[in-house]
Amino acid sequence: MLTLGVLASGRGSNFQSIIDSIESGVLNAKIALLITDNPESYAIERANKHNIEALVIKPRDFSDRDLYYSHIAEELKKRNVELVILAGFMRVVGKALIDKYRNRIMNIHPALLPAFPGLHGQKQAAEYGVKISGCTVHFVDEGMDTGPIIIQAAVPAYHDDTEETLSERILKQEHKIFPYAIRLYSEGKISVNGRKVIIEDNREDPGMINPPLIQ
Ligand code: GAR
Repeated sequence: MLTLGVLASGRGSNFQSIIDSIESGVLNAKIALLITDNPESYAIERANKHNIEALVIKPRDFSDRDLYYSHIAEELKKRNVELVILAGFMRVVGKALIDKYRNRIMNIHPALLPAFPGLHGQKQAAEYGVKISGCTVHFVDEGMDTGPIIIQAAVPAYHDDTEETLSERILKQEHKIFPYAIRLYSEGKISVNGRKVIIEDNREDPGMINPPLIQ
């Protein structure tokens, strides 16, 4: 069974969607550990409720980024974590962690990358006036949301959308495609060739325009 480690900073609804997929038997994995950089993160309550170990590891307790991310990598390795999940982890991950988990760190981003990377992807898209937006699950590399794309889901964007209305529409898709991407990984159906992610059985709908309902 695939062992996951989750990093989250905030409300943790994506973390919850992964917990729910595991508990309903859709995803054959276990979450060994939640790490948060924010002692106020609601993800901690979610972890407690589901008997998942939670650690608060704050960057300011370390003298530099390398030490911070090496420490996180050690905690993950100690628990035999095989795949690291960034579920609303609001920091650019350091090389010290990426090197130890190359193509084994997945992030969810609330826009159709490479459009609107960085913070507030939904706000950027709403203000730009795009007609289609969505979300992206990708492997993490050293750049800002630049790693190989695994799956994307699209939603319409309307002229009167606000950051809130667009975020809500996108979030519903996030909760479907993130557990789905993890499931594909757990089934050994994902491989990476340079920038290209190859997904077995996915030729009919490579962009997940209609993501399968798995919850
Ligand atoms: C999600 O919308 C996620 O895509 C976004 O933060 C939110 C976290 O929500 N992540 C980023 O913007 C990363 N750059 P959650 O805490 O309820 O899962």
